[in-house]
Amino acid sequence: MCISRRITIRLSLLLISMGLLLLGVSVLLAEGDSLDTALRRMLAEQNVSPLTVRNDFSPELVALGQALFFDKVLSGNQDISCATCHHPLLATGDGLSLSFGTGGKGLGAARMMGVGRTLVPRNAPHVFNLGAEEYQFMFWDGRVAQLADGRIITPAKEQTPDGLLNLVAAQALFPITSIDEMRGRPGDVDVLGHANDLANIPDGDFPAMWEAVMARLLAIPEYVQLFQSAFPGKTAFDIVDYANAIGAFEIQAYTFTESPWNRYVAGDDAALSDEAKQGALLFFGEAGCSSCHSGALLSDQQFHNRVVPQLGPGKGTGAPFDYGRMLETGDGEDLFAFRTPSLHNVALTGPWMHNGAFTTLEAAVRHELDPETGCALYDVTQLLPLLQPEVLEMSAAQIMMGTQIGRVELSEAEIQDLIAFLGSLTDPAALNLSHTLPASVPSGLPLAD
Ligand code: HEC
Ligand code: HEC
Repeated sequence: MCISRRITIRLSLLLISMGLLLLGVSVLLAEGDSLDTALRRMLAEQNVSPLTVRNDFSPELVALGQALFFDKVLSGNQDISCATCHHPLLATGDGLSLSFGTGGKGLGAARMMGVGRTLVPRNAPHVFNLGAEEYQFMFWDGRVAQLADGRIITPAKEQTPDGLLNLVAAQALFPITSIDEMRGRPGDVDVLGHANDLANIPDGDFPAMWEAVMARLLAIPEYVQLFQSAFPGKTAFDIVDYANAIGAFEIQAYTFTESPWNRYVAGDDAALSDEAKQGALLFFGEAGCSSCHSGALLSDQQFHNRVVPQLGPGKGTGAPFDYGRMLETGDGEDLFAFRTPSLHNVALTGPWMHNGAFTTLEAAVRHELDPETGCALYDVTQLLPLLQPEVLEMSAAQIMMGTQIGRVELSEAEIQDLIAFLGSLTDPAALNLSHTLPASVPSGLPLAD
C-alpha cells in the first residue's frame, strides 16, 4: 500500500514534470514561431526581398578592370590607385574617417597625409554590391545619378560620354579628375621625377583629362593587349572602355549577397539567430530604421539629414561645411542631407557616415537612434588625433535647422539585438578579399599602399 502510494506519487510527479516540459517546449515553439511569423509578415508588408546583383561580365573585361583598379599610373603623381582608398584588405574602404589622397603614403590606419595636402572632404565608401539595380545614385550627395529613363547624369554634364554600361562605370570617370584624390596640383612632380601632366589641365576640361589618362595607358603594351582582349574587334579605345572595365571589376569582385540575412529573407528560418530576428523586428518595426533603410538594398535612395557632426575641410561653396545634397540641388530642404547608405556588410565598412564621424558600429547605431543627442554629445576622441581639430563647432540645432528628427528609445538589450541584426548582414565570404589583389600591374608601379 505504502509502496504503491509512493509509486503513484512518483508517477504523478513525473507526469506533471513531463507536462511542464511539454508546456515549456510548446511555449518556446510558439515564441519561435511567432517571431518568424511576425518578422515575415513585416517583410512582406514592406516588400523586402533578398538582394540580388547581376554580375555576368566577361573575364577579359574584368581582368582589364582589375589592372586599372590597382594601378597608380592612373594618378597624376603615379602614387595612388583606386585601391589605396578602396582596398580589399580594408573591406574596400580605407579604414579612415576621411581619405588622404595623392601625396600621402601607406595604407589604412598607417596612412600618412602628404605635406601641404588637403584632406578629402568625405569618407571613402565601400564598393560592395554596387551593381544592384536598386542603386540610383553614386556618391554621398548623389552627383552621379541614373534617371528613370536610363540616362546617366554626372558632374561632367554634357561632356559625359555615351556608352557607359552602368552607374558604377560612370563613377569611375571622376576620381582621376579630382585634384585631391588622384590628379594632383599644377606644379606637382610625380614619384618618378616627371612633371605631372594631368594636373596642368584646366579644371572643367574633363575630356582633356580623360584623353591624357588614356594616352598614358595605351603607351603601355600590356594595356593595349588587355583592352584588345576585353573588347574583341575594337581597334581604338577611349575612357568609356576604361570606365566600363573598372565598373565590371568592382561589380564582379565585390558582389557579396550571401549573408545570413539574405538567406533568411530568401526563406531559410534557420539562417538567423533569435537575437538577430529580434533586432530585425525592431529595425523594420518600432525603431523605424526601415523608413529609410528600406527594400532589398536597405536604402530608399533618398537623401536625409541625420545630424552627423560636421568634420573636415567641407566641400565646394559650403566650405568649411559640407552641405551634402544641397550642393547638387540648391534646395534648402537638402541641407546636410546625404544618401541613405545600403547596410549590407555594414559591420565591415567603418568608419561610418559620410565623414566617418563614428568609428564603431555601436556608436553609429546609438547616433541613429537619437541623432540630436548623438550630435550634442559627440565624442571627438574616437577620431585619429590628426582629425580631432577638424570637427566644426556647430550645435545639433544648427545642423538640424528646423528639421523634425525623431528619437527612438530602446533598452540596452534591444540595442544589442539591433547590432546583432546588422551583424547578420555580413556575407562571410566578404571577410577575406585577398584573392582580388593582383600580383602586379601593367605599369610595373608598386602595389603596396
Ligand atoms: C583618395 C581616396 C580615393 C581614391 C584614390 C578613389 N576613391 Fe573612390 N571614393 C573616395 C571617396 C572619399 C568617395 C566618396 C566621395 C563623395 O561621396 O563625395 C568615393 C566614392 C567612390 C564610389 C561611390 C560609392 C558609392 O556608394 O556611392 C565608388 C564606386 C568609387 N569611389 C570607386 C573608385 C574608383 C573606381 C577609383 C579609381 C578610379 C576611386 N574610387 C579612387 C575615395 C577615393
Ligand atoms: C530618416 C532616414 C533614416 C532613418 C530613420 C535611419 N537612417 Fe540610418 N542613415 C540614414 C542616412 C541618410 C545615413 C547617412 C547619414 C550621413 O552620413 O550623414 C544613415 C547612416 C546609417 C549608418 C551608417 C552606415 C554607413 O555605411 O556609414 C548606420 C549603421 C545606420 N544608418 C543605421 C540605422 C539604424 C539602425 C536606424 C534605426 C534606428 C537608422 N539607421 C535610421 C538614414 C536613416
